[in-house]
Amino acid sequence: MNNCLHEKEYGQEHYARLRQLAAETTPADELSHFMEMGSWRPKELRKMKKFRFQLLHRWLVEHFAPCRVADIGGGKGLLAYLLQQSGWEAAVIDPIYQELPDKYKDIATGQRVKIGTHEKVRRVSRPFSAEMGREFDLLIGMHAHGCNALIVDAAAEYGCGYVLFPCCVIEEPFFPVRGVSWLESITAYGVEGQRPLHHFRLNFKGQNIGLCGVGELKLVS
Ligand SMILES: C[S@@+](CC[C@H](N)C(=O)[O-])C[C@H]1O[C@@H](n2cnc3c(N)ncnc32)[C@H](O)[C@@H]1O
Repeated sequence: MNNCLHEKEYGQEHYARLRQLAAETTPADELSHFMEMGSWRPKELRKMKKFRFQLLHRWLVEHFAPCRVADIGGGKGLLAYLLQQSGWEAAVIDPIYQELPDKYKDIATGQRVKIGTHEKVRRVSRPFSAEMGREFDLLIGMHAHGCNALIVDAAAEYGCGYVLFPCCVIEEPFFPVRGVSWLESITAYGVEGQRPLHHFRLNFKGQNIGLCGVGELKLVS
């Protein structure tokens, strides 16, 4: 079953329902911490989906102290590269090897920034397995095929934080039941294990709701 929804955007009602579901396990002060900090600048224009790595990078550095992070299904590795530039110890876990892009747009300055051919991020060119979580503090799955439930499991086992932007239901251990979105379904999976989690939105078009379990991550106050 391939039910890809990264083009799909959920409305406020769905977002509110997800937050309600998460509130069952998450301490109120943690939920309000993320709500108060907001996901984007008040007058910032909506970005294209292709800027999602820059937007997630900004959100992460604003919320968490640098840590050991794995971008699972990280593709070309731009998010890991940006985090590395911010002093995080970043790796990409993806069975398909891809080179870093040669440039990206800095969303703060609007400038194009070149990435030199000598610049690298650490890559683990194998499918993600839960034991790999042992080495990391934060596991990220941005449209990571077949890894969403596994990331939630690994985070619970090793105390890592996690951030998911689920899109397709590909090779997951369960499917959403009829009438329930994949986002809601994976949220319920996290909640079932009594693991605190919450949702946030980034300012890009498409499926822009992220799911975050803080685990033992250090928050930026
Ligand atoms: C839709 S792409 C997403 C790439 C990038 N994160 C993005 O948002 O553009 C899915 C990625 O998951 C990777 N992938 C597929 N199966 C995987 C697995 N078992 N473990 C880790 N990555 C996997 C693919 O190679 C691909 O790079």
